[in-house]
Amino acid sequence: MDFISIFDISPADLKEILEESARLKRRRASGERQTDELRGRTLLMIFEKPSTRTRVSFEVAMRELGGSVISLSWNEMQLGRGERIKETAKVLSSYVDAVCIRAFSHEKVEEFAEHATIPTINALTDREHPCQTLADMLTIKERKGSLKGLKVAWIGDGNNVCNSLIGGCTLCGAEIWIACPKGYEPDAEIMRKAHEIGGNVHVCDDVMEAAEDADVLYTDVWVSMGDERDSARRKNDLRSYQINQNVLRNAKEDAIVMHCMPVHVGEEMTEDVLYCEQSAVLQQAENRLHTQKALLMRILS
Ligand code: CP
Ligand code: NVA
Repeated sequence: MDFISIFDISPADLKEILEESARLKRRRASGERQTDELRGRTLLMIFEKPSTRTRVSFEVAMRELGGSVISLSWNEMQLGRGERIKETAKVLSSYVDAVCIRAFSHEKVEEFAEHATIPTINALTDREHPCQTLADMLTIKERKGSLKGLKVAWIGDGNNVCNSLIGGCTLCGAEIWIACPKGYEPDAEIMRKAHEIGGNVHVCDDVMEAAEDADVLYTDVWVSMGDERDSARRKNDLRSYQINQNVLRNAKEDAIVMHCMPVHVGEEMTEDVLYCEQSAVLQQAENRLHTQKALLMRILS
């Protein structure tokens, strides 16, 4: 099983992964941290971009399940000197049990999976961040009890995290509103897939319209990794797409606030909102560990 897009899994798969994640979270909280469920299994992680949460949570997840991890940056591999993805994938398939890749281009991860004979996991591309969505769905479920029928509002760039969240909401039966400026809409293919399976997805350019009566407010950086050259234009275009107290007041009284992190405080989210009682941001980051454990168990055991 590969996990390259959130659409690689069904609503039933997602439900099972979330239930297993919750079980593993409870087990760890009860003090049972180290098991040998993935003993003898090796995960290779390849990073073409920086990472804090993804890298550390996958490494800890794998180690706590008794397996081992190798983390490499793209440029310290022969990939950085022009070795093709095709041969790299074939060779690595004979060494390790799964590969997790963070790359600029989504197509590179798909190409790797096409030539690998072991599972490939997307650790973020320019199009999607499906591992983030698993943690996001668990967090919403923990805070709200269920996802079905909720209104989720995305404020800002319709980027990789937004694309996967559209899929996650669709698989869980939640409605999602995306407020973004013209030119920052989510991926058209993602929108098509979501609508094809009955997704309730709306795109507008009005932050208050999206936030109105929302159960969940979610945002992400104005400048994603790889978009730095365009930084000034993006910051200008997105400057009013911020989650602040005004926007929070427009949502339901018990709405929660989410961000995949890293946060650029004072840009897409204000400091007071980040640390308010309604913020689920740190819980989301913690949940990366539990959901990725469940994903690894499903893929490797
Ligand atoms: N949210 C997330 O993927 O964080 P990192 O870039 O730190 O891995
Ligand atoms: N959209 C951000 C997410 C970081 C986890 C980026 O791609 O940089």
